[in-house]
Amino acid sequence: MADAAVRKRGFTRRTFLGWWIGSLMTATIVTALPPLLVFLWPAPPKGQRKGPLTIALDTPMDQITDGQAVKFSAPTSPNSAFIMADGGGGNAAGDLAFGGFVVKNQGKINVFAINCSHLGCSIALNESAKTFDCPCHGSRFHLDGTVLRGPAPAPLSHLTWKQGSDAKTIQVDGLTLGF
Ligand code: FES
Repeated sequence: MADAAVRKRGFTRRTFLGWWIGSLMTATIVTALPPLLVFLWPAPPKGQRKGPLTIALDTPMDQITDGQAVKFSAPTSPNSAFIMADGGGGNAAGDLAFGGFVVKNQGKINVFAINCSHLGCSIALNESAKTFDCPCHGSRFHLDGTVLRGPAPAPLSHLTWKQGSDAKTIQVDGLTLGF
């Protein structure tokens, strides 16, 4: 009798089930979607901020001589890191570096991340050989960043930089880590 009344109004049991299942699916999607989106595109951790980091060099830019490399580190208050502009081997564009070198080679200035392209150990300047040497597995790089001896498979990564407000400072693209 009730069924007949419902049917009379054009609202069958099948229509009701369709609406019910549809509502259930919509509710499930609406509930599950926000956490899924947060999982796929997480917000940057609180306090983390991209931007140029101001670095004071031990030797002003205009006093760096040919074949000289000046080491610098990322600020630690607050903790920060440089962002690699390119990469190869174990390094990739967007990877973080906690140090670098400004080097003048044949009149050209380059700024490299400190990470060896093999497994990321910190390279060091070999003053006498005028190379960058990696203490971990013996890789050696020319001052222009290219590989002189492996196992490093790729040149050193560049950092994006520009001159600061005076000859002693440079601004290097980086990330303030916020802790
Ligand atoms: S990490 Fe530099 S040679 Fe292996």
